[in-house]
Amino acid sequence: MANFEKLITLFFFAIVLPSIVLVDASFSKSMHITWGAQHALLQGDDLQLVLDNSSGSAAQTKKPFLFGTIESHIKFVPGDSAGTVTAYYLSSTGSQHDEIDFEFLGNISGQPYIIHTNLFTQGNGSREEQFYLWFDPSADFHNYTIHWNPTEIVWYIDSIPIRVFRNYENEGIAYPNKQGMRVYTSLWNADDWATRGGLIKTNWTNAPFIAKFNHFRARACKWHGEVSINQCASNIASNWWTSPIYKQLSYAQLGQMNWVRDNYMIYNYCSDTKRFNGQLPPECFKAQY
Ligand SMILES: *[C@@H]1O[C@H](CO)[C@@H](O)[C@H](O)[C@H]1NC(C)=O
Ligand SMILES: *[C@@H]1O[C@H](CO)[C@@H](O)[C@H](O)[C@H]1NC(C)=O
Ligand SMILES: *[C@@H]1O[C@H](CO)[C@@H](O)[C@H](O)[C@H]1NC(C)=O
Ligand SMILES: *[C@@H]1O[C@H](CO)[C@@H](O)[C@H](O)[C@H]1NC(C)=O
Ligand SMILES: *[C@@H]1O[C@H](CO)[C@@H](O)[C@H](O)[C@H]1NC(C)=O
Repeated sequence: MANFEKLITLFFFAIVLPSIVLVDASFSKSMHITWGAQHALLQGDDLQLVLDNSSGSAAQTKKPFLFGTIESHIKFVPGDSAGTVTAYYLSSTGSQHDEIDFEFLGNISGQPYIIHTNLFTQGNGSREEQFYLWFDPSADFHNYTIHWNPTEIVWYIDSIPIRVFRNYENEGIAYPNKQGMRVYTSLWNADDWATRGGLIKTNWTNAPFIAKFNHFRARACKWHGEVSINQCASNIASNWWTSPIYKQLSYAQLGQMNWVRDNYMIYNYCSDTKRFNGQLPPECFKAQY
């Protein structure tokens, strides 16, 4: 009997599990355009989002995922991009949704973009952290990656971690681990708030505004409904995102992250006592790295 069970287990690992681990490579295979079909271009490993005075555009993955690494290389709207926002994020659906965000707020020529990050757990957001960059994100493609596993979420830019959110679920802090999320990208006009808080409006004479994406890789566990909650989290070799090296940043990575946070961070919700009336969210008192 025990042997039979072992055999079944082996069979399960050998045949069933590899099929849930997906390398969804290339934009055109994994995504479809959901807004501004005349404005977006999806071809091979390239995605172009266009914004003009008639429309913005957006694309999303066909499939949802639970845990893994989502990578995309992006070159943002060059020149005068004030008022525009390019978003690249993971999200589930419904009122109790989870979401892991990267948003890029444009600026007038020569002035710095803002990288805006946020996290929603079961419908609760308000966890913004914002940064300037150490390079011009409109000059070249750079690697924007979200790594997400049962232990932690890490936002990376060119392999430098800029932010971590650890799982403190056992202390009552919700963590996104029970809902599959799709990957979304969009480019739209947000000149009511994006640049210097809405002071600078989009200058439409410079349209069309174009953001370019390539090298999309979702090395992630495919979501097949509730059964995936345990499957994608279980500590087995094929679930490489659960291995020890993904549970904690290395000292070198920690040093890099501190450099970014010391020199480029411009807003941290955990420092905004005024906004939270002195009642900072509980994760602000937990070690995040
Ligand atoms: C949009 O831009 C085009 C080209 O610049 C211009 O011809 C058109 O009048 C604009 N439309 C609106 C609604 O502003
Ligand atoms: C959402 O946040 C509010 C206020 O911080 C809190 O009362 C509530 O329990 C949270 N809900 C979840 C599902 O975490
Ligand atoms: C992009 O960054 C992620 C996270 O560090 C890394 O795993 C991936 O290999 C990088 N991609 C390339 C092409 O270097
Ligand atoms: C745009 O540039 C201004 C002036 O340097 C700066 O205060 C602001 O943070 C920059 N970014 C955005 C998105 O407003
Ligand atoms: C809008 O852009 C055009 C072309 O670059 C420029 O001539 C004009 O001064 C800009 N308008 C504003 C309000 O900045």
